Amino acid sequence: MSHFALCRWKACSRPSLTFLFNGRLQLRVARFSSPATQAKVEVLGQQFPTDDFTNIKPAILRKVSAQLHLKHAHPLNTLRKLIESAYPDFTHAATISPLVTPFKNFDELSFPLDHPGRAKTDSYYVNRDMMLRTHTSAHEVEMFRKGETKWLLTADVYRRDEIDASHYPIFHQVEGAQIFTADAAGMREVEADNERLAGILASAHIAIEDTPHVSPANPVQPEHDPVFAELVAKNLKLSLNNLMLTLFGGVQGISKENPLRVRWIESYFPFTSPSFEVEVYFQDEWLEILGCGVVIQATLNTAGVPNKIGWAFGLGLERIAMVLFSIPDIRMFWSEDERFLSQFEDGKITSFKPYSKYPSCFKDVSFWVSQGNTLHENDICDLVRDVAGDLVEDVKRIDHFVHPKTQRTSLCYRIHYRSMDSSLSNEEVNVIQDQVISRLQEHFDVEIR
Ligand code: PHE
Repeated sequence: MSHFALCRWKACSRPSLTFLFNGRLQLRVARFSSPATQAKVEVLGQQFPTDDFTNIKPAILRKVSAQLHLKHAHPLNTLRKLIESAYPDFTHAATISPLVTPFKNFDELSFPLDHPGRAKTDSYYVNRDMMLRTHTSAHEVEMFRKGETKWLLTADVYRRDEIDASHYPIFHQVEGAQIFTADAAGMREVEADNERLAGILASAHIAIEDTPHVSPANPVQPEHDPVFAELVAKNLKLSLNNLMLTLFGGVQGISKENPLRVRWIESYFPFTSPSFEVEVYFQDEWLEILGCGVVIQATLNTAGVPNKIGWAFGLGLERIAMVLFSIPDIRMFWSEDERFLSQFEDGKITSFKPYSKYPSCFKDVSFWVSQGNTLHENDICDLVRDVAGDLVEDVKRIDHFVHPKTQRTSLCYRIHYRSMDSSLSNEEVNVIQDQVISRLQEHFDVEIR
């Protein structure tokens, strides 16, 4: 689970390994110098000075302009459009740059100064003053400030994280929000909308496990009239229950006897109260879909609309697309392989038919770290990603112990490599693994065992 309560590439880019020459696989390991050691780093055509916060790597930089959510017939694009179709009268934004200030990503949204999301180990910093957004909520204030009262915003977001089939350092979110005037007329508008939405749900095959709109642990904000806050929270829930119907109501097997199951859970976000998470029961599992809540009034005050009250939600696209399109590995969204891309039609949800899976190969690396070394698991994952690109499938720590005499820590990581579009030989993987090892030694002061 990530710090946001919700956890959560190949346009114009090549993996750091390329296979060339008339049919025979040849390996070329691209050697990138770490941008932190250079005076400047270029992101989306703009030059930025680097500093002690710079941790953005070429593997990420090559993908910041991909905009998969706008790529014709791409599953993420189809899913974006499906969500937009559930909110036809909302403004739909989808081209906002991922470069934001930490102030915008965190402070403007009332994140405390010691929030773990701010750490260099969790987020990608261009430098102390500029970062890649970690969530689409970073644009709430700017959207409200522009006078938008109901909007959706789809964008790529970036988080340093573990590596496995469902985690990737870049993913996509849709943020949605609606605000109303905090007076009797505004609340009549909410009530009318609630009636309309409840009417649609009444005849749909949906079973909702609700949680109270407000509770002592999930309170109304002191600035809010409790009656207004309840009405707005109810509007949020009705609106999202309808969105769940749009997304999952059409899947096979949903009927009166076997309705779509949606469950509401109390949650916490620094920028909403009350806050909730929504889960959907799908293929015998509760699937985490989104986080949401009544917008913290400070956000609306900062945006210059203090007389408004409203809700916001943020939903990750990849996980939903993985189940709707039966895509088994999150790396596939970044595939440029025609066997992947040609399977999808613009605007249509179809099941992906896996083509042959190439064998995987794992390598272990064990090393000592001295006491006080700040090496973080996300640093290791980032390093492996930077050397191996999308050839890395999974990174897991398989051993950890502290030497009783020297107090040094020994760690062992198992790295699974697999190419999605060709076979990797042991030799090739060894070259990658050697690069991983030498980078570990170079950058993190570890002693390989
Ligand atoms: N930004 C949150 C996340 O990344 C989701 C969220 C959006 C929660 C809006 C509440 C309101 O997980």
